[in-house]
Amino acid sequence: MQSHLILDWKGEKIKSMVFNNKVKYTAVPLEADDTPTKKTLCSHCSPYLTKKNISAFVIILILSTAFFLVACIGGNFQSKVCSDNNSMHLISKPQNKYHMPKNLKIAHSRRRLPHCIIIGVRKGGTRALLQYLKIHPDVQVAPDEIHFFDSNENYSKGIDWYRRRMPQSFDEQITIEKSPNYFVDWNTPSRVKMMNASIKLLLIVKDPFYRAVSDYVQIRENRLEKDMEMEEFEDLAIDPISGNVRINYKAINRSLYYIHTKRWLKFFPLEQIHIVDGDNLVLRPFEEMEKVETFLGLRHYLSDDHFVFDRKKGFYCIHRENGAHKCLNRTKGRPHPKIDPDVMNQLNDFFEPYNQQFYELVGKTFKWPKAVGKRSLKRKH
Ligand code: A3P
Repeated sequence: MQSHLILDWKGEKIKSMVFNNKVKYTAVPLEADDTPTKKTLCSHCSPYLTKKNISAFVIILILSTAFFLVACIGGNFQSKVCSDNNSMHLISKPQNKYHMPKNLKIAHSRRRLPHCIIIGVRKGGTRALLQYLKIHPDVQVAPDEIHFFDSNENYSKGIDWYRRRMPQSFDEQITIEKSPNYFVDWNTPSRVKMMNASIKLLLIVKDPFYRAVSDYVQIRENRLEKDMEMEEFEDLAIDPISGNVRINYKAINRSLYYIHTKRWLKFFPLEQIHIVDGDNLVLRPFEEMEKVETFLGLRHYLSDDHFVFDRKKGFYCIHRENGAHKCLNRTKGRPHPKIDPDVMNQLNDFFEPYNQQFYELVGKTFKWPKAVGKRSLKRKH
């Protein structure tokens, strides 16, 4: 019978004996001179629990912690780590929103309640205004209309629900939301004031008649897409029996800027509301945006170079660094139907006293009504 000492896969000693031509293995206790070459911390510990291994592990731990501190908290390298869904991304600090990846939690940035709200008016050019503001490196915009203050259902979800819908922004940036229906909603001014009494508000208005037609065109398109019928603008705007303007027709009512602005001014001083000339934003976007930057206390960043007139679109578009044009989508800048000139005159006469009161209220004059045909002249550019 021969016997040998061998090591099993855990490093334990096994005595192998050949008995009747069969090999038998028995574990043998370690003797003092049998001590394994690797020094473990205790006699019963795994052989991998050596001082050397533990030191290596601690060093790796320190190095990786240091890496996270630099990348996640220090921010000196302007690299940002951490994500919403536990997967990691390494990105460079965005210079503006175009570079801000979606759904990414970025160190130093957080979702904050808006510092400014574009309250309307619907079809005044609210999307163009928001998109132009988005170019500014110190601005982050909520891409969707949130309708927090004008929807009881959303409002009941609470302020944190609203905050969660805001984009990530850095401390030096301001956050802007736009929901154009806020302008005409009765509950919104008091609710906004309750959130932040010193918030800045942007209101963009345009010629009341053209705005009303634009409003009608949008509703008509939505209805036609659903195979629903839609009356002509003239029939909706003018009561066929009395021949009077239908003041409660929403497309008309929303153009009564005096009435709605007066309600807002019960809650906010005029200094907190900047009125953007929507007609001028179409023709000279840079000029209007410069005033908006001043009102918001932003450094003057936007220049003429950021805008380029797109002949095909018939509007200014954003001039990207790579030379491409970023135009608003096809729902902005739709063709308008030709309106009966008598109805147009009647509506312009109807709007006139409201316009005058509006000018007085806000201390600013607009050139309404716009000259007939100016719209098509503008498009030829
Ligand atoms: P139309 O589509 O009737 O021409 P809002 O974004 O508030 O819904 O406003 C839409 C209006 O924005 C458009 O109305 C258009 O007149 C105006 N607008 C201003 N600048 C624009 C731009 N650069 N591109 C497209 N539409 C613009």
